[in-house]
Amino acid sequence: MATTATPSTPDGAPVPDSVPKQTKQTVDPYNVTGEVGADGVVKAIDYNKLVDEFGTKKIDDELLARFERVTGKKPHHFLRRGIVFSHRDFETILDRYERGEPFFLYTGRGPSSDSVHVGHTIPFEFTKWLQDTFDVPLIIMLTDDEKYLFSDKKTIEEVQGYCASNVKDIIAIGFDPAKTFIFSDFDYVGGAFYRNIVRLSKHITLNQARAIFGFNESTNIGRIHFGSIQGATSWASSFPHIFGEDEKQTVGIPALIPCAIDQDPYFRMTRDVSARLKFQGKPYAKPALIHSLFLPALQGPGTKMSASIDESAIFMRDTPNQIKNKINKYAFSGGKVSVEEHRQFGGDTSVDVAYQYLRFFLEDDDELEKIRIAYENGEMLTGELKAICIRELQKYVAGFQERRAKVDDDTVKLFMERRPLKWGGNPKAPVV
Ligand code: TYM
Ligand code: TRP
Repeated sequence: MATTATPSTPDGAPVPDSVPKQTKQTVDPYNVTGEVGADGVVKAIDYNKLVDEFGTKKIDDELLARFERVTGKKPHHFLRRGIVFSHRDFETILDRYERGEPFFLYTGRGPSSDSVHVGHTIPFEFTKWLQDTFDVPLIIMLTDDEKYLFSDKKTIEEVQGYCASNVKDIIAIGFDPAKTFIFSDFDYVGGAFYRNIVRLSKHITLNQARAIFGFNESTNIGRIHFGSIQGATSWASSFPHIFGEDEKQTVGIPALIPCAIDQDPYFRMTRDVSARLKFQGKPYAKPALIHSLFLPALQGPGTKMSASIDESAIFMRDTPNQIKNKINKYAFSGGKVSVEEHRQFGGDTSVDVAYQYLRFFLEDDDELEKIRIAYENGEMLTGELKAICIRELQKYVAGFQERRAKVDDDTVKLFMERRPLKWGGNPKAPVV
């Protein structure tokens, strides 16, 4: 189904100027857009096509049943609803968990604006749930260098400022400080981490980087190299203060990386190199991945919510009123043009942004199902659906803001200090 790329949506909301002109679906760390048809209409992102193109696996019922058997925990609503939908080697991580063998979680954020938006919280919320479930160490990377290299205008000082406030946003998700290490590239590069960055970069040719990321002759060389920094964070031996100095042990400990699927190219590349690298005869563990969909932009499912397009996003610092106004003004509606038609034919939940947001943020399966049926058969109107979405988002953002207000500079120091982590209170938890 489709959202229009013409200057207004069916309910008259303006579409930002940055609506893409290209025709093919593009999903990589720097661009996310659905296919644009001959009629200029941006289609919803085709996630099945991505699974085929990237060569990942879909998460199926069998894997979810195994997850529940192994962990004793009901799968998170993101898993139940196909929001976390794809993976690489997640089975291997479950095998390790079953055998009590070590692994760790790794995720990250590129500080591109002062506040994170609700879309960014998806992989972080899911990561927190995995941390609570598996009881393993978690590494969170802030790629301040990336955001400097990939922006034409931002200064180093600006991205460092964003980084300082984004760290507080991330902490407010609720991670356990005893098990979580957060770092920024500008601060942490050096030592064991830098050795791994260089190891990785030595095994990637310019041709490979171009094929993976679409770079060209005019791309600055910092961008071309950056993938080795994001990639080397997947290796436990980059963190001797957590996993120990003995690289022969640590090279075998894999990461499980929760992220939205735009980040997959970095880790496809890292997995290829891991498969070719050995430390004193011992192979490097390939990182495993678990991918989420994008929370769509307010304008519709053809693109992701983006921090650099203000009117596409609900930010975690938005006030209840801003949330209400943005949803009412911009959220693309799958409803019909008139009430009569809507009552007769019903709305299309597959493109309706308010409904899509509820799939992410309304935990109660029964309530969500009731809303879907009422909207699809025309009983519920767009205004009513939007009102529910506004209420749920206001609740979610208010809970976050309460926790965020309590994060002070000492808390930040605690998370970012190089120190051993403590995990494994859970008798089933892997011990290094
Ligand atoms: P960044 O800051 O662009 O995004 C942070 C995380 O949020 C995901 N994401 C979204 N998820 C759902 N809906 C959206 N609309 C949406 N927009 C972004 C991203 O996929 C990511 O998981 N280079 C990275 C930082 C990084 C990283 C990593 C991310 C370094 N190492 C390892 C994941 C895993 C970045 O700039 O993310
Ligand atoms: N590359 C991501 C971005 O451009 C940030 C990032 C770094 C990240 N490491 C990560 C995201 C790990 C998810 C998981 O925003």
